[in-house]
Amino acid sequence: MHAQSQTPIVTGFFDEATNTISYVVKDPDSDACAIIDSVMDIDYAAGRITYDHADRMIAHVRDNGLKLEWLIETHVHADHLSAAPYIQKKLGGKLGIGAKITVVQDTFGKVFNEGTEFQRDGSQFDRLFEDGDTYTIGGLRARAIHTPGHTPACMTHVIGDAAFVGDTLFMPDGGSARADFPGGDAAVLYDSIQKVLALPDDTRLFMCHDYGPNGREIRWETTVAEEKAHNIHVGEGKSKEDFVKFRTERDGTLDMPKLIIPSLQVNMRGGELPPAEADGKRYLKVPVNGL
Ligand SMILES: [Fe+2]
Repeated sequence: MHAQSQTPIVTGFFDEATNTISYVVKDPDSDACAIIDSVMDIDYAAGRITYDHADRMIAHVRDNGLKLEWLIETHVHADHLSAAPYIQKKLGGKLGIGAKITVVQDTFGKVFNEGTEFQRDGSQFDRLFEDGDTYTIGGLRARAIHTPGHTPACMTHVIGDAAFVGDTLFMPDGGSARADFPGGDAAVLYDSIQKVLALPDDTRLFMCHDYGPNGREIRWETTVAEEKAHNIHVGEGKSKEDFVKFRTERDGTLDMPKLIIPSLQVNMRGGELPPAEADGKRYLKVPVNGL
């Protein structure tokens, strides 16, 4: 018996509409794979939902004869809608998110005035990860680390020598994600970033977003060593105090993400649209002055 390789084959799928990167993470020694942070397409002005991005990922899994074991959400995204239930229906696999999803569901259940039919216990998911929980993708060993700050339920998934950081960090020249959504906290985010930077220096880091700062091409992979040395918000040992001051000031200047209202309503339900109303149709709400 040879040793299982812990170097997953990672394929990124960039979504131009939301600057999100979704991943297929494959065990090099078997057909097992996971999908991380999938995207469902929405034309919000038209109220139209399509699945081009998810269909590309489904085709990749099928064309390569892969077996989908996991659908992972690093957090409840506020800038794109998850396609996890659509993909799960076609390919199977278990849907997982951080256990603190219950806090997010409680917060946004109130914001959207959801009724009692909206469960706030995370039961829309197959697995709720606590800090340090482990799982496998074929022979790959995976571990979820609680990295809150951007949202209370954010997790970083360490899979072999790769880590999927969600919105904890951006590329070195992108810095870090905002921490001003309900339940967000810049000081907590700083501490979470230190957990990621404490991984081995050669850990491959995969971003959930990239915006190509200063006109550079879109990139989504770096290393712990690169982030420690060059991250513009936390690199070169920047202090927590400086980070919190900078992050809080910056966040005060940012507009709400264009898709935050539909994203939260869908993603807090594990990617499902709100249930059909009496006419058999589904609707998304806009809380007036509610966010
Ligand atoms: Fe996010």
